[in-house]
Amino acid sequence: MRLLRPLLRRKPLPLSRLHSTASNTPPTPTPTPTPTPTSNTTHFGFKTVREDEKESLVGQVFGNVASSYDLMNDVMSGGVHRLWKDHFIRTLAPGPTTKLLDVAGGTGDIAFRFLDYISATHPNPSPHVTLLDINPAMLAVGQQRAQQLGHTNIAFTEGNAERLEGIEDASVDAYTIAFGIRNCTHVDRVLREAYRVLKPGGRFMCLEFGSVENPVVARMYDLYSFHLIPTMGGLIANDRESYQYLVESIRKFPPQPVFADMIKEAGFKVVGKGWEDLTFGVAAIHSGFKL
Ligand SMILES: C[S@@+](CC[C@H](N)C(=O)[O-])C[C@H]1O[C@@H](n2cnc3c(N)ncnc32)[C@H](O)[C@@H]1O
Repeated sequence: MRLLRPLLRRKPLPLSRLHSTASNTPPTPTPTPTPTPTSNTTHFGFKTVREDEKESLVGQVFGNVASSYDLMNDVMSGGVHRLWKDHFIRTLAPGPTTKLLDVAGGTGDIAFRFLDYISATHPNPSPHVTLLDINPAMLAVGQQRAQQLGHTNIAFTEGNAERLEGIEDASVDAYTIAFGIRNCTHVDRVLREAYRVLKPGGRFMCLEFGSVENPVVARMYDLYSFHLIPTMGGLIANDRESYQYLVESIRKFPPQPVFADMIKEAGFKVVGKGWEDLTFGVAAIHSGFKL
């Protein structure tokens, strides 16, 4: 892991030019079942790829979309992602000295809200936030935004959620990961690392897309996401395929009860069922404590 240096933006590459062992890519609203990945393969959206390929494929996606990422979030969600993120930080309710590690922090939405929340609720705060992300292009946009917003106290760090090198055991009060974990190859390793770096009493919080149970809402959501989102990605970000991946990756992520079990398996204690659905389960906040 290394502290971020200013980086040149990479030239976007269409994902169609990337090699993968694709098994199928259904353009239909209802995802077609795909073969269960074997021990050496995993999913990249609805494609099955080698485990060692996924990280660079995901890297291409976020390298391609970084400059339009924030605009696309607003357009795709009609601004609702802002409400989810506000609620996420209110649920965390950080104190004046909370030390946060925001993993897969991207362009900074969680870190900025964390700092804004603390300055609005405490007179003399001294929070500390490290924003870690694997993608230099996303980090570069985050740094630019931090400068514009006057947030000078964020440590932007390039690193992998699966191997938090340089972050000591039991060193942070809170660990957040928003819309990042589904992009990781080994979710279990991410959770183990989160557990390792949290102090006893520390809190793990994850904001991620979920499964919608209501059949009517689920149908509308499928139509919207499989038809409109890739089209908008094509028009606004000039990259339909990256947004096709983003939509597919949501459907491949475990539903809320399964993910909650993974969090418990990593050692976290959860309160109640362990998650809160947002907007019919389109997104969910998962939470666990290291006791
Ligand atoms: C959808 S963005 C979320 C960004 C931000 N947290 C937000 O809520 O807007 C997902 C982020 O996860 C990052 N990411 C993907 N795989 C990662 C990994 N293995 N380790 C760290 N970050 C990763 C991507 O680079 C990208 O910035």
